[in-house]
Amino acid sequence: MLKKIGLIGGGYIGGVLAHEIAERRLAREIGLTDPAPFVNPDDPPERQEVAKKQSVAKGKCLDISEGLPTIRSDVRCVGSKDYSALAGADLVINTAGVPRKARPDGSFPTREELLTINLKVTKEVAKGIKEQCPNAIVISVANPLDAIVYTLDKALAPPKNKLVGMAGQLDSGRYCYFVAEAANVSVESVSAIVLGGHGDTMVPVRSSCLIGGVPVTKFLDEETLSAIEARTRKAGGEVVGLLGFGSAFVSPAWAALEMAEAIIFDKRKIIPVCAKLEGEYGVDGLFVGVPAILGANGVEGVIEIDLTDVEKEAFANSIKAVSKTCGEVDDMLGNL
Ligand code: LAC
Repeated sequence: MLKKIGLIGGGYIGGVLAHEIAERRLAREIGLTDPAPFVNPDDPPERQEVAKKQSVAKGKCLDISEGLPTIRSDVRCVGSKDYSALAGADLVINTAGVPRKARPDGSFPTREELLTINLKVTKEVAKGIKEQCPNAIVISVANPLDAIVYTLDKALAPPKNKLVGMAGQLDSGRYCYFVAEAANVSVESVSAIVLGGHGDTMVPVRSSCLIGGVPVTKFLDEETLSAIEARTRKAGGEVVGLLGFGSAFVSPAWAALEMAEAIIFDKRKIIPVCAKLEGEYGVDGLFVGVPAILGANGVEGVIEIDLTDVEKEAFANSIKAVSKTCGEVDDMLGNL
């Protein structure tokens, strides 16, 4: 159990994180920060006064706290509109930013199209972490995933083991789920890895996908596997299209908690995460989805797996996409 976990963002993912952390008793204290609702200066003064007193973070924390006696958990849950709730956190999970949302015509933006708005939010996030808990291990979930982790790295310059993004566990979970469904076996029997960026170029690695330790190709034919891999690459968007009001939130929260538990319990568990590469996979200076060992020190090592030629090409293509978005970050950061 940690002393304190800080949660940045009290939206759908932040809400699931807070109640799961309380239920799983992962920390003595949860600090949840979210500026909502914003005070609109164009509103009549009475309305502004009401908004000033309201706080999504405080409301969610009070709701959870009042349920604690029922689930017999003694976690202290503190919310704030500013970053003070993060004070002294050992581990921070960042979900701050605007999610993808379906437009009235049913279409929706790519994760990369969220960059401009979420970059501004991320600058504030970095300032908050620096002031309140500069030594915390940070797991970032906000989109566009790889570029936001890259931005946090620029702003915080942490030791490379202490900053990591959540995407691979979510994407691999989706791949596993689709494979288990098609093969009609338990999800527990499937293991799979998705590498690369957390965008439509991500790489479901067929050569490392196993059912009960046996290559997936013994169970599913080429056509089925190709369809599953294509669906995996677009799986986040599929949920956005169905929900209408935002993006997936339970599976991303569980994936972030899988990473948090590996760190909290010093499991040295191998999980696909967005980690800083310094030469591994021939990449230098970018955060990209790769299998890594997570333990008490955060990212304790990157695992390099063998890829087929087709997978290598797809990975290189995904790196190109991540690199392009990070280039945009470099251009935009100066002007923010
Ligand atoms: C997704 C978002 C959270 O993949 O990135 O669902």
